[in-house]
Amino acid sequence: MPIITEIEDLKRLYKRRVPKMFYDYAETGSWTEQTFRENSSDFDEIRLRQRVAVDMAGRSTATRMVGQDCKMPVALAPVGLCGMQSADGEIKAARAAEKFGVPFTLSTMSICSIEDVASHTSKPFWFQVYTLKDDDFMKRLFARAKDAKCSALVITVDLQVLGQRHKDLKNGLSAPPKLTPSSILNLATKVPWGLEMLQTRRRFFGNIVGHAKGVTDPSSLSSWTAEAFDPSLDWNRIREFRSWWDGPVILKGILDAEDARRALDVGADAIVVSNHGGRQLDGALSSIRMLPKIMDAVGDKIEVHLDSGIRSGQDVLKALALGARGTMIGRAFVYGLGAMGEAGVTRALEVIHKELDVTMALCGERSVAGLGRHNLLLPADFADRWS
Ligand code: GLV
Repeated sequence: MPIITEIEDLKRLYKRRVPKMFYDYAETGSWTEQTFRENSSDFDEIRLRQRVAVDMAGRSTATRMVGQDCKMPVALAPVGLCGMQSADGEIKAARAAEKFGVPFTLSTMSICSIEDVASHTSKPFWFQVYTLKDDDFMKRLFARAKDAKCSALVITVDLQVLGQRHKDLKNGLSAPPKLTPSSILNLATKVPWGLEMLQTRRRFFGNIVGHAKGVTDPSSLSSWTAEAFDPSLDWNRIREFRSWWDGPVILKGILDAEDARRALDVGADAIVVSNHGGRQLDGALSSIRMLPKIMDAVGDKIEVHLDSGIRSGQDVLKALALGARGTMIGRAFVYGLGAMGEAGVTRALEVIHKELDVTMALCGERSVAGLGRHNLLLPADFADRWS
């Protein structure tokens, strides 16, 4: 196995192994990608306060997210098309998360279905829903998630319409990939990926194909989101979904203090401060920069998680020190999945865990609950530069 010391190592291997169309799908933001870039670069503006001579024996990264014990405050975010990054990718990622002791979230836009993942894992996972116009489909989706014993529902609230990602349009992104002269040329350089894909029957959007009506080309993400997604999703509808699910509900995609208060009003158990990894509203501020204001608005009333831009355990620590109870990683685990399947996801989790653990120690903290603003050095205008 190659020596992997940081998430960037996995990304290099991932780029070599996986067809360009799927690498680009993950490694993209919308339009100019400003928000995508700033999600990560804004973490670099935050510095850490070194403390010494604190007894670090017996420290722990363990915590709870929506009532669930976790080895560290990091969940795998819902990511579409994981089964195109590696054959049966959602099953592999779910297994890695289960063995490591962190939550896995299955996306509506997964290749492996809810039932597939449930039958290949032994612990409950979280399920993410997108809102389709087809109401029967939605009711069945909730029932399927319940039958699969999913332990939390993650409702994504920032994607009624899809942000434009230039690369996906230029590559003709689809699952499975459509054969065109340029995709064939690229696939010819990805033989191990192709051989693996030939051995699985899971190559379509498993939660959609055969389940949703009104989808004319279910292989194309952009066309079926445009046709099938419900652009009228509003807070009343979210409240209705809340009443359909009797476990914890997490609203993902909150980037504004006012929306965070609305999330509280509709009875969410947690929110994920997120701009969808910079894939939706280009020009929005990064999640980490918005976190302080959202914490001020609702931090004492609801569990707040953060995603978008996390590539290291140090980033996780910074989010926790600004008040988040937990975090989600998307690309950081997808790099591992594409690079080395289940072992790659495990390696990504190990890297982040070690970085978090060592950084906590060097900051003089023995537990994640002890982390706080006192661990950070921030530019004076970090949260207020734009108003
Ligand atoms: C879907 O969630 C996407 O961002 O592509």
